[in-house]
Amino acid sequence: MHVADGWVGYLACPHCGGGLHRARGALRCAQGHTFDVARQGYVNLLPGAVRKGTGDTAAMLSAREEFFGAGHYRPLIDRVADTAVRAVEGVDGCVIEAGSGPGHYLAAALERLPARLGLALDLSKHAARRAARSHPRMGAVVCDAWERIPVQDSVAALVLSVFAPRNVPEFVRVLAPGGAVVVAPSGRHLENLVDTLGMVGVDPDKGARIRRGFSGAFLLEQVEVLERAVLLSRAEAVAVAAMGPTAFHVPVDELQRRAEALGDPVETTISVEIFTWRLTR
Ligand SMILES: C[S@@+](CC[C@H](N)C(=O)[O-])C[C@H]1O[C@@H](n2cnc3c(N)ncnc32)[C@H](O)[C@@H]1O
Ligand SMILES: [Zn+2]
Repeated sequence: MHVADGWVGYLACPHCGGGLHRARGALRCAQGHTFDVARQGYVNLLPGAVRKGTGDTAAMLSAREEFFGAGHYRPLIDRVADTAVRAVEGVDGCVIEAGSGPGHYLAAALERLPARLGLALDLSKHAARRAARSHPRMGAVVCDAWERIPVQDSVAALVLSVFAPRNVPEFVRVLAPGGAVVVAPSGRHLENLVDTLGMVGVDPDKGARIRRGFSGAFLLEQVEVLERAVLLSRAEAVAVAAMGPTAFHVPVDELQRRAEALGDPVETTISVEIFTWRLTR
C-alpha cells in the first residue's frame, strides 16, 4: 500500500467492523461492503442517513477558512500540535482528530510527526472535503463521532478533539494505549463578542464536565491554559461567530448587523484549556 494511503488500514467497516482496502475508486471490506471515495478524496463511512443539524455547513466552513486564514489562531494551532507531539512519544499508532473540521490542528501535528499518519473524522462532508486536501498523510472520513467510530481497536496513539465531540468510550477503544488531547474554550473565550453578537456561550461547567468524562479511563497528565488578547477586524469577528455553533441560530446578515455595535478593529480574548489525558490501561 502506498504510504499516502496507509491510513485506510486503520479504518473499520461501519457495517461489519472488518478492515477496509482500496478497490479502484472505493474502499471495500472482505464481506463486500463498499464505500465510494469522493472525487475530493474523502470517504463517507456513515452506516445510514446523516443525523441532521450537527455537521458544519459549507458556509460555516468558508467562515472558518476565512478566520483561520487571518492567522489569529496560529499560536493555538502551534501549541496544540506541540502538545500532540509530546503526547504520542513512545506510543505507536496514528493520530485521529474527532470533529476535525478542515483539519488544521491535525495537519500541524502531522507536520511535526513525519512518521505518522492521521485520520480526520467529521460528520460534515464539507469539512471532510477540506481535510482531505489539508495534509498528504491525512485521510478524511465522514462519520458520526457520537456513534461507533469506523476505526479499528487500539490503532491510535492519540485522539485530538478541539472544540469538538468527545466520545470517551470510543476514544478508549481506538487508543493503543496512548492518550487524548482535548481543547475546550474557557468562559473568557471571545469575550466582548459573545454578548454583542449573541454567540452561543461556553457552559461555565465545561472544564468540570470534561474532567468528569475522562477521569476513570484516563489520568489527567497536564492542563495548559492559553490566553491572549487579539485584535480582530469587524469582518473577522463576524467570521469567528459564523464558523461555530452560533451559525445554527443566527443568520450571517444578522451577525453583520449586530457587529455594527463593535469597534473595527475590536479587541477580544482567545482563552482555552488544553487537556492531555493518558489512558490508564
Ligand atoms: C466547532 S467545530 C471545530 C472544528 C475543528 N476542530 C476546528 O477547531 O477547526 C466542530 C466540528 O465538529 C463537527 N461535528 C459536529 N457533530 C459531529 C459528530 N456527531 N461527529 C463528528 N463530527 C461532528 C462539525 O461538523 C465541526 O466540523
Ligand atoms: Zn463490511
